[in-house]
Amino acid sequence: MAHKKTLSSLFFQFLLLAFMCFFHNVNGDGLKVGFYEKTCPRVESIVQKITADKISLAPSLAAPLLRMHFHDCFVRGCDGSILIDSTKTNQAEKDGFPNLSLRGFQIIDAVKTAVEDACPGVVSCADILALVARDAIYQIKGPYWPVPLGRRDGKVSIASESATLPSPFANIAQLKAQFASKGLSVKDLVVLSGGHTVGTSHCSTIAIRLYNFTGKGDTDPSLDSEYVPYLKSKCKPTDTTTLLEMDPGSFGTFDESYYTNVLKRRGLFLSDSALLNDPETSDYVKLQAQSLGSTFLKDFQESMVKMGQVGVLTGSAGEIRRHCNMIN
Ligand code: HEM
Ligand SMILES: *[C@@H]1O[C@H](CO)[C@@H](O)[C@H](O)[C@H]1NC(C)=O
Ligand SMILES: *[C@@H]1O[C@H](CO)[C@@H](O)[C@H](O)[C@H]1NC(C)=O
Repeated sequence: MAHKKTLSSLFFQFLLLAFMCFFHNVNGDGLKVGFYEKTCPRVESIVQKITADKISLAPSLAAPLLRMHFHDCFVRGCDGSILIDSTKTNQAEKDGFPNLSLRGFQIIDAVKTAVEDACPGVVSCADILALVARDAIYQIKGPYWPVPLGRRDGKVSIASESATLPSPFANIAQLKAQFASKGLSVKDLVVLSGGHTVGTSHCSTIAIRLYNFTGKGDTDPSLDSEYVPYLKSKCKPTDTTTLLEMDPGSFGTFDESYYTNVLKRRGLFLSDSALLNDPETSDYVKLQAQSLGSTFLKDFQESMVKMGQVGVLTGSAGEIRRHCNMIN
């Protein structure tokens, strides 16, 4: 009898643990998958449909929308502050220096309009951005992750604060510290950097690495010397408009080939190549670059759920913005 009781209580504990693990993975502090189940049951299907329509017409917008979500989360938390326009008296985040090439704001606005039509004043712009980023990547056949919802919109957006975003010239110590300050691990850093498997960069972002690395007209020696002539042929020293594929040959495909590039010392930014300068991140790069049995897509889903919870406003904090580009 005692034996039976222990077994059943063990079983109960196991169930409880399994239950908690499930919700711990899927639900952030205060955020919840299905948050709008009662208040706006169709929100996810509305966002999904409009995003799919827009991205099927313009697949190259998927990458900048993912990046927009990252920029939102890293400045004041995922609170939609990246979406706010500057005013006469305030220069907003959007207009800070790293805004270079953020695109796709019109998709957020189109989705917001449709969601407001269905359920006025209910769904935050921060949640819409998190959903659109997920659905846009899925539309280009990338991974799919659950998006816990319930974020509220911030009322503050300051251009100078975008300077706190990681720089493409950051070294590994700086990158680790910046991710740690958002509650993200070294693994999250190397996994989320894999977002650079899609999209493009401006030549100007790597001009210094190519043409004047130490101020003596030299090239960064950490770049693959066989790759340099190609990059130089694409990017002349003062070119500010040409776009380079981040993951040449597969910049529209969400796969683990980013890590193959980094391992070959073909990562575009110092921050990409920096991943080789730490035992944990370089082990991960090597493992994924072997591609056989890559865990990248699954890891990316998990790290995106974590990134989407950084510094969120919940409960009665902030507001539900009526228009994503301005506070109410
Ligand atoms: C680890 C620190 C990171 C740094 C220093 C960094 C820096 C940059 C820079 C400089 C660009 C190119 C901008 C341009 O010249 O047009 C870029 C593009 C991009 N980044 Fe990152 N990034 C980082 C992390 C991330 C993360 C965590 C994600 C998402 C999970 C991400 C997603 C992207 C995407 C998708 C693009 C391409 C955007 C496009 O096609 O327009 N990045 N990043
Ligand atoms: C980026 O910011 C600069 C000012 O720093 C501004 O002139 C430019 O219009 C902004 N670009 C976008 C796409 O918002
Ligand atoms: C290279 O950098 C040095 C030092 O910062 C600077 O004086 C020089 O003008 C730069 N050269 C070019 C071509 O930009």
